[in-house]
Amino acid sequence: MRAAPYPVQTGIMPAVRRVCDQIKFAVRMGEDRPITGYGGRATDDTVRCSETMTFNPLEHRGIPLDRQLRNWRELNVEPVDPDRADPYTKCRIITMNGIETEAIFFSHHFSRVCPEMEVKQQLAEDRYIEQQQQKTVNWLLPGQSSVLETTIAYEQVAVDLTGWVARMEPDPYLKQAYEFGVLEDFDHLYRYANLYEMIEHRKAEKLVDNLTEVMPGRPTMLHHRDPMDNVRTPYDRNQAQPISKLHALTIMAAEQQTMNFYMNVGPQYMEPIARQLYQEIGLIEEEHVTHYESLVDPGETWYERLVHHEYNECYMYHSFMETESDPKVKAVWELHLNMELEHLRLACELMRKHDGREPESILARELPPPVTFEPNKEYIRELLATQVDLTTLGAGYVREAHERFERMQSRIHGDEKPPSERVIDEHREMFGQEYRLQSEGDHPVQSLREVRVSR
Ligand SMILES: [Fe+2]
Ligand SMILES: [Fe+2]
Ligand SMILES: [Fe+2]
Ligand SMILES: [Fe+2]
Repeated sequence: MRAAPYPVQTGIMPAVRRVCDQIKFAVRMGEDRPITGYGGRATDDTVRCSETMTFNPLEHRGIPLDRQLRNWRELNVEPVDPDRADPYTKCRIITMNGIETEAIFFSHHFSRVCPEMEVKQQLAEDRYIEQQQQKTVNWLLPGQSSVLETTIAYEQVAVDLTGWVARMEPDPYLKQAYEFGVLEDFDHLYRYANLYEMIEHRKAEKLVDNLTEVMPGRPTMLHHRDPMDNVRTPYDRNQAQPISKLHALTIMAAEQQTMNFYMNVGPQYMEPIARQLYQEIGLIEEEHVTHYESLVDPGETWYERLVHHEYNECYMYHSFMETESDPKVKAVWELHLNMELEHLRLACELMRKHDGREPESILARELPPPVTFEPNKEYIRELLATQVDLTTLGAGYVREAHERFERMQSRIHGDEKPPSERVIDEHREMFGQEYRLQSEGDHPVQSLREVRVSR
């Protein structure tokens, strides 16, 4: 008989077992701290919640790769409660799904260009675990949520994750890229919130829970730029601070997942306005992926990139482990962190062997402060007041609508209003006003204040 990958725990209360089957090897009765690793037994090296102020992932051992595989019961996670879950818990789930999806596709791309059989085999082993992590994480989302409700959560992620990253980014050019992008996803949130009330007759405030405002950002119709103007100048891998590399990977992964999501769910709607709005915003997410991925230095070797991916997974799981309010979800972050520590160790070995360089030379000595979901209302308002009229020209930013921008605008819009404008018009027609959630007062930009129509 094959030995179970993890020794079965005994003495776990049925309720706890029901809740935590998927992480049964990570939760031990009688201790309120999840444990990780060998046989469900904490070792001196495994990492537990809130035990670390400073944390260097290179100094901790995780769970050996051959003990990371989960069976069906362990993969069968209980989703969060759609009505009672903290919106930011859902945001963390969506973010980590994007991070895992990027890890998987990066590994596939690496494998396709890698001639070394041994490396391809190791990538395949690791990637299978990344897939199990992705399944665990994304399946925490509740099936009761509609596609549009999940969409609104995706845009809330884009606003509050990018907002946080923009505030923390030390490099002014990179900071500008995040400040520019966040005002666009902020507008998407407003357009989808109007669609939500029209087709589901519910208000988005229950979803965003007053943590994020809902009002116009840079109007979506103005996001359609000539594709060449979406390409930014990359950071220099020898000059950029480690935190800048982590930020770029995180936002690229989140936007890429949003793009993938809209590519697939858009045609599931019957209502023409919904189908069209997903097409329009889906094309803007393509622009956002181009914008953010071009920040990453293409001179990084494949092994270096692998190390950065695994390090960033450690950083993100560690961040969310430290800030998570839902104990069951927190246990997943903790377990996955302990898996990622081993992925990172293996990636570092590959880099030493194939690049002949020490990973320590490119990595931070300790993790930066945790990525935190928190309101960014004042920051967004300040950006609205100062940057709403920006567009891009080449790799820079301008305030004037230049020739290439105008040509693209007239080609894509023809002489018609795009879906993002029509959704607001149709909402006004149905309800006499548009949907907004302005908890902090009037819109900071005069021209974007609400126009009420009489019916
Ligand atoms: Fe992962
Ligand atoms: Fe968006
Ligand atoms: Fe976006
Ligand atoms: Fe990983």
